[in-house]
Amino acid sequence: MKKGVYGLFKLLNISYKRKMINFKNIVANAISKVVNINETEIEMSIEKPKGSENGDYAFPCFRLAKELHKAPQMIANDIKENIKVDENQITKIEVVGGYLNFFINKEILVEEVLNEMSEDKEYGKSTIGNGKNIVIDYSAPNIAKPFHIGHLRSTVIGAALYKIYKYLGYNVTGINHLGDYGTQFGKLIEGYKLWGNEYNIEENPIDELTKIYIRINQACKEDEKVLENCRNNFKKLEDGDKYCVEIWQKFRELSLKEFQKVYDILGSKFDSWNGEAFYSDKMPEVIDILNKTGKLVESEGAKIIDLEDKGINTPCIIEKSNGSSTYATRDLAAIMYRARTYDFDKALYITSYEQVLHFKQVFEVAKLLGLDEKYTNGLEHVAFGMVLLPTGKMSTREGTSIKLSELLNEAISRAKAIIEQKNPELENKDEVAKKVGVGAVIFNDLANNRVKDEIFDWDTILNFQGETGPYIQYTYVRTKSVIEKAGGVPDISEVNSELLQDEYSIKLLKLIYDFEDVLVQVTDKNEPSILSRYLIDVAKAYSNFYNENKIINDDKNLQNARVYLTYSAGIILKTGAGLLGIEMPDKM
Ligand code: ARG
Repeated sequence: MKKGVYGLFKLLNISYKRKMINFKNIVANAISKVVNINETEIEMSIEKPKGSENGDYAFPCFRLAKELHKAPQMIANDIKENIKVDENQITKIEVVGGYLNFFINKEILVEEVLNEMSEDKEYGKSTIGNGKNIVIDYSAPNIAKPFHIGHLRSTVIGAALYKIYKYLGYNVTGINHLGDYGTQFGKLIEGYKLWGNEYNIEENPIDELTKIYIRINQACKEDEKVLENCRNNFKKLEDGDKYCVEIWQKFRELSLKEFQKVYDILGSKFDSWNGEAFYSDKMPEVIDILNKTGKLVESEGAKIIDLEDKGINTPCIIEKSNGSSTYATRDLAAIMYRARTYDFDKALYITSYEQVLHFKQVFEVAKLLGLDEKYTNGLEHVAFGMVLLPTGKMSTREGTSIKLSELLNEAISRAKAIIEQKNPELENKDEVAKKVGVGAVIFNDLANNRVKDEIFDWDTILNFQGETGPYIQYTYVRTKSVIEKAGGVPDISEVNSELLQDEYSIKLLKLIYDFEDVLVQVTDKNEPSILSRYLIDVAKAYSNFYNENKIINDDKNLQNARVYLTYSAGIILKTGAGLLGIEMPDKM
């Protein structure tokens, strides 16, 4: 490898955390010197053309056209005439329509990427988030109810964001805001009181408690009096009634043990398990503050905050008519607690879009709590779509939901069957089947824009050729076998970057160059699918490179360069998938 400027740093033994040349920034900076817009804004509007004939970066001049009352193409031409760039870095600038297209020096690009790859054990890792605190509220299943497929989505999206923020240097706290409080416990306690001895909840807690829950719901529908008893039970629980607290604790412990089975399969970890009950003694303060604002009013015996003037038609209920607290009040107490404890810059809530109204209300009422604006501005509901089965939506109440542990185990056994068929000689089949099956389910949850509803279909999810987790794993395994055939990864000093200038190598290298940028985009939008899509692009680009270029070669120089690129693609696939929570097998 030719010694670039960084090689010089190395020679001089200067310890310097190297970052690659930022071409996009170079382009934006040069444009900013000739137009009257700041660099950051320009950088944000720079696009990446799809086809390589339009260069590597494009600056659209349409918005400027409105301001300057000039045709976009004329503006593009003006900029082109006046712009000053280092011709070694930017080799060509072209005007096409209202776009200004920039072509970068591919030799520099290749050198930068390969050098960074060789020195940086954690490619793309950044310090951009240093000094910023992020709180992520995710998973949050409900005690005594099944851990269902919606909670899986929350767990998977939350864990991916957690890892990505952390990789970018943020200080992240992951909170499992367990649904361990609320009126449903009044119902469960009532059901347990009435028929507890008919059910074996020690043995099979969630199933049996679900049966009790369905039965008591039915009884509530038929008899108003039973419903009344249920409500009172919850009130008693909040007031610390010994019997109610005891049963509640038992439900909680048994449920957590069951949930842990799912977390073990997924490898989920949380920094805090403070659920809703944790806030029971922190709500009086909230109510006190809200009272003082004069906005807390009585309505049909309940205490509410009207949000009509904020464009929210449903009021936020702070206290029910029997004096018990609500889901919203507990979330308000949690906001105050988290602001004080974690001093968050962003607090993310990962739930299905069914809770859009809830979070709109809570975030609006939070502005009345007297917190610093930093906190109320940092609240963000990261909503995701439903998971649909071919038979329609799932609901716990009617008892039609699938249990997640069953679903994950089915994924693993289906993956095993496919492996058994494709590669019967493989060692550690069970371990690989677990990575493939679980990886397939995780990837499916992250594959598309999160607000889109997702259809859960086994054949699509596990298709090795589709845009799936197994496809990414399969491509990674292929990079491993290429390296094995070549007898290992060559030393970077034996790699001549000039040999990687063909179309397919460049396409792949450009993608690898973008990795950190992609991670930043994920955190900007809290959208892990940006990374999933990217990994599919990398896998496809590698497959094309592999099909078009003979890697194992008589020409050892050529082989070294191509094997090194293979190795780099593998690193990206493994690191990227790891950030999504997907493990890579070495063989499959
Ligand atoms: N337990 C709730 C549910 O299953 C999700 C909780 C989300 N977090 C929160 N702070 N409200 O729907």
